[in-house]
Amino acid sequence: MKHILVTGGGGFIGSHLVESLLEDDFNVVVLDDLSSGKRENLPDDERLHFIQGDVADHGLIDEVFNQFTFTHIFHLAAIASVHESVTNTYRCHQVNCEASLYLLEKARRCPALKRMVYASSAAVYGDDPVLPKSEDSPIRPISPYGIDKYTAEQYMLTYSRLYGVPAVVLRYFNVYGPRQNGGSMDGGVASIFLNKFLSDKRPVVTVYGDGQQTRDFVYIKDVIGATRFVMSHETAAGNVYNVATGRETSILNVIQGLETITEQKAQILFSEKRTGDIERSFANISRLRALGFTPQYTLLASLREYVAASGEIEHLQAL
Ligand SMILES: NC(=O)c1ccc[n+]([C@@H]2O[C@H](COP(=O)([O-])OP(=O)(O)OC[C@H]3O[C@@H](n4cnc5c(N)ncnc54)[C@H](O)[C@@H]3O)[C@@H](O)[C@H]2O)c1
Repeated sequence: MKHILVTGGGGFIGSHLVESLLEDDFNVVVLDDLSSGKRENLPDDERLHFIQGDVADHGLIDEVFNQFTFTHIFHLAAIASVHESVTNTYRCHQVNCEASLYLLEKARRCPALKRMVYASSAAVYGDDPVLPKSEDSPIRPISPYGIDKYTAEQYMLTYSRLYGVPAVVLRYFNVYGPRQNGGSMDGGVASIFLNKFLSDKRPVVTVYGDGQQTRDFVYIKDVIGATRFVMSHETAAGNVYNVATGRETSILNVIQGLETITEQKAQILFSEKRTGDIERSFANISRLRALGFTPQYTLLASLREYVAASGEIEHLQAL
């Protein structure tokens, strides 16, 4: 029996991807150590085989590849925290970079493999001021996280050229949506704000800096759409794609969007700008568009769906 491997499948993006694969009746193996993911993010399903373990454990990876025949690998497992990459750099390197190389070593010996998709990040661009970021923009990571993501990307592309591993690199921008860890420092800002709006009638949100800093916020459904799209697209292998909307949205715009949808007014506490925070970021997505994928969600439409997916909240009248 053929399977699809999703590393990090218990996490925010991974669990949405697994759900979508199960909907299409694929057999899925999830490898996740649950360090930030949760088993409850995934359904109980006989087509889903869950393995709790460390993607950086070579012995375990050997066993998994001996036990299953994979047609596709989605490699999402990572310590997805810029902060932790600064405080725990070597461990993050093992998980975020070295484990990717070992997976490639297995992938190149997988004759059934049709596609390997690697979850990279806009963090590879760092703070270079040129905007919008296209895949050919300068690479200037400002954290160990960004360095590891870029190095792993380069291994993907090099293994694609050297050994024909059908690898595709996706640079996700600021992904948000249900199941994102809005309580954590590294959770997306949209999810952090949304949690405040859902838990309080008069939400108090902290904004670092003046709130004019911008990001390219991309809704989870568009991210899964793009990830599934490159899974089978013939010419995608060996390439890098930005996954974003191509729109520049400020932090204050996100708050205004939530105010509109929930009919609540936020109290904004402005705090000192954090060192290392990038001022502006948004993507050029013409390469992904040219491949045939266009994101569907506007900010308001996605926030509306996100709020609704977060369940009935008594004090929200506007839904
Ligand atoms: N969320 C975003 O905005 C965003 C943006 C750019 C890139 N990414 C990348 O997308 C991927 C998924 O991110 P996410 O937002 O879903 O984060 P997440 O933390 O929810 O998911 C990561 C998953 O990897 C698992 N994991 C961590 N270390 C592991 C290890 N050693 N062995 C096995 N599993 C391990 C975690 O338990 C978690 O389930 C990551 O590679 C991340 O770097 C995310």
